[in-house]
Amino acid sequence: MNDIASIGRLYGLGSYIEMLKIFAISTLIMLLSACGGATNDASLIDEPIIIKFPHVVAPGTPKGQAASRFEQLVEERFPGRVDVEVYPSGQLMTDDDSLEALAFGEIQMIAVSLSKFDRLTQAFQVFDLPFLFSNIGAVENFQASIEGQELLEALVDSGFLGLAFWHNGMKHFGAHRPLRLPNDAQGLRFRIMESDVLQAQMEAIGGNPQKMAYGEVYQALQTGAIDAQENTWSNIYSSKFHEVQPYFMLSNHGYVGYFVAVNEQFWETLPNDIQDGLSEIMAEVTEWGNARSIAINDESREKILATGRAEIIALTDQELRAWRTMVHPVWEQFSDEIGADLIEAAQRSSN
Ligand code: LMR
Repeated sequence: MNDIASIGRLYGLGSYIEMLKIFAISTLIMLLSACGGATNDASLIDEPIIIKFPHVVAPGTPKGQAASRFEQLVEERFPGRVDVEVYPSGQLMTDDDSLEALAFGEIQMIAVSLSKFDRLTQAFQVFDLPFLFSNIGAVENFQASIEGQELLEALVDSGFLGLAFWHNGMKHFGAHRPLRLPNDAQGLRFRIMESDVLQAQMEAIGGNPQKMAYGEVYQALQTGAIDAQENTWSNIYSSKFHEVQPYFMLSNHGYVGYFVAVNEQFWETLPNDIQDGLSEIMAEVTEWGNARSIAINDESREKILATGRAEIIALTDQELRAWRTMVHPVWEQFSDEIGADLIEAAQRSSN
């Protein structure tokens, strides 16, 4: 430009060239700021925040219903600003893959069974101790206690921030033959979730535990790759296990519930009003879904019976005592890993 200016001055065109320079520079600045501004504004105004939320069970289950309600309320309260994409029934990925995807920020939210966090924390194993919680009320007391609430932040170092615990319900055994006493389970191949406590539980009753993704259980039962499994009525019914497994025992021996978590970095980048709004909605949905979970499981049990394809066997107090006694050593086995204090807090909630 200096050369052009000196040529211009040489030909008596100094002020004209100066004007051209000013015009060119200001046009360039306007163009650059217009481009930059347009990009920022578009990302703020046009593009909603996406929350990808995969899970592995059917939409009608306690978790399926809670996830849909969360989606609905968020989109009603933040139209065009937040878009929740729920992927049920393992459409997008397995639970195992979702833990990795959440850590890497490929998805933003999960509701994964508490039994599946072994490789990240041992504290959640408390929920798997057999016969520790006598019912959902006991679990709820524990989750609401100081010790329970602290668990929501147990995985922050791994990048997961817990927002809530959602219930499914109490677990029951299912097998290709009636299991009235632990001896009946001798040698059976039991599908279990990814949990060392559940593995020890099945070994304690003489079973042969096989860790397996939820989406594979139906086929494994159907082909005889496994003989038995444990789950809630809503999972058994919605995944049709009763069509390929004729006997269920009302064993009530454990809990299935979920750690509902977001990617912590994603959460921290949310505008304050959205963060507050999502927390409020999560609290509402948790209360709504947890209250419904018992009814959904009761209805599912009735529907299984109504199909006439499976028998549900009630166990006597004496039979239940035999199961309880057989698996009780598992508590001691995992006491150090889980923390004796945490187990005591859970026991207090049950009383
Ligand atoms: C299972 O794998 O059996 C459960 O965790 C599935 C679920 O999400 O309820």
